[in-house]
Amino acid sequence: MTVTKEQVLAALARVPSPDGTALPNARVLSDVVVSDGKVFFSLTVDAATVKAWEPVRDAAEKAVRSVPGVQSALVALTAERSPGAAARGPQPAHVAAQPQRAAHPADKFQPGIPGVDAVIAVASGKGGVGKSTTAVNLALGLRDLGLKVGMLDADIYGPSLPKLLAIKEKPETIGGTRLKPIQRYGLTVMSIGFLIDEETPMIWRGPMVMSAITQMLREVEWGKLDIMVVDMPPGTGDAQLTMAQQVPLKGAVIVSTPQDLALIDARRGVSMFKRVNVPVLGVVENMSYFLCPSCGTRSDIFAHGGARHEAERLGVPFLGEVPLHMTIREKSDAGLPVVATVPDSEHARIYRDIASKVLAQLKGGAGGKTAPRIVIEA
Ligand SMILES: Nc1ncnc2c1ncn2[C@@H]1O[C@H](COP(=O)(O)OP(=O)(O)OP(=O)(O)O)[C@@H](O)[C@H]1O
Ligand SMILES: [Mg+2]
Repeated sequence: MTVTKEQVLAALARVPSPDGTALPNARVLSDVVVSDGKVFFSLTVDAATVKAWEPVRDAAEKAVRSVPGVQSALVALTAERSPGAAARGPQPAHVAAQPQRAAHPADKFQPGIPGVDAVIAVASGKGGVGKSTTAVNLALGLRDLGLKVGMLDADIYGPSLPKLLAIKEKPETIGGTRLKPIQRYGLTVMSIGFLIDEETPMIWRGPMVMSAITQMLREVEWGKLDIMVVDMPPGTGDAQLTMAQQVPLKGAVIVSTPQDLALIDARRGVSMFKRVNVPVLGVVENMSYFLCPSCGTRSDIFAHGGARHEAERLGVPFLGEVPLHMTIREKSDAGLPVVATVPDSEHARIYRDIASKVLAQLKGGAGGKTAPRIVIEA
């Protein structure tokens, strides 16, 4: 049975907002996204009125779930940020509803995710530099260090994890509201791409994007994880800054290619995380040099070493160089990441080495006081 947006709106018309206005007329509703029996939308309200809206959110979820054909409904309550805050864009209700706190953006971080020891972001200033490929292989490298690792695809507009991990199945829902993440190569994985068909246009509005992230963090049964690796959307604009604040990050890894232009963007990435008080765990130089797949000859087609130099200049650790190699591309795009499928290769070794450095940074390096206590079981 196909559910339409009109049916959802009709059900919402029976839900009154705190002042009695029917919900669709209360000017708080984001786009309503209906996909495969799953319904998502958010209510963006004034931070001061959040308490009054909480029962409305519940009622809206119940009303939508009662529409025939609806399998699950996820409704997020987001509060408009108060004027003068560091970044534009909405905030989750429970953060904004807290009593007034200091103005530093780091103080607006979400609380941690129960059961998850540390969340780290893999980010890049620029798109297409191999951030998702690095994130997946880094996660697998951390897995090889004996950690229980999860991956969250925060790239709502261009989710990559379904492809990079060859995941076609849809997550099951638990009790109608919570989602069960997918297991692949020993990783616990969630991506908006699992819920939405590739062909569906991504016409999410700002609040929708934020609520989708909040839901993927909070309404997914992540279970117990030592580390969650978040594949961030590319760029350093407001959306990324807000996201860096939305996710309770213990650190960030910046991926860059060696060219000057990419490095300028990487620098912006480093300063974005510094601005929100997230320790930069280091910089990875991807596509650092070219390794000929047939003869093995190495050529520094870009000015190799730029990221190492830049990391030194910025005073952040340099985590390693990944060559531009056909195997990495082919395996990555086929959903067979090298660390999982060619573990004895030089490439896998490089990624595992990067993973060890990231872990060392988390345990004692850049994280300092905020570093998580991670115990590796022998
Ligand atoms: N070291 C590498 N050697 C060869 N190919 C690579 C390497 N790293 C990434 N690629 C390839 O480059 C392309 C872009 O990589 P990827 O999707 O990981 O980048 P991204 O930064 O996440 O991109 P986006 O900004 O679109 O999210 C992919 O086809 C991937 O297989
Ligand atoms: Mg990507």
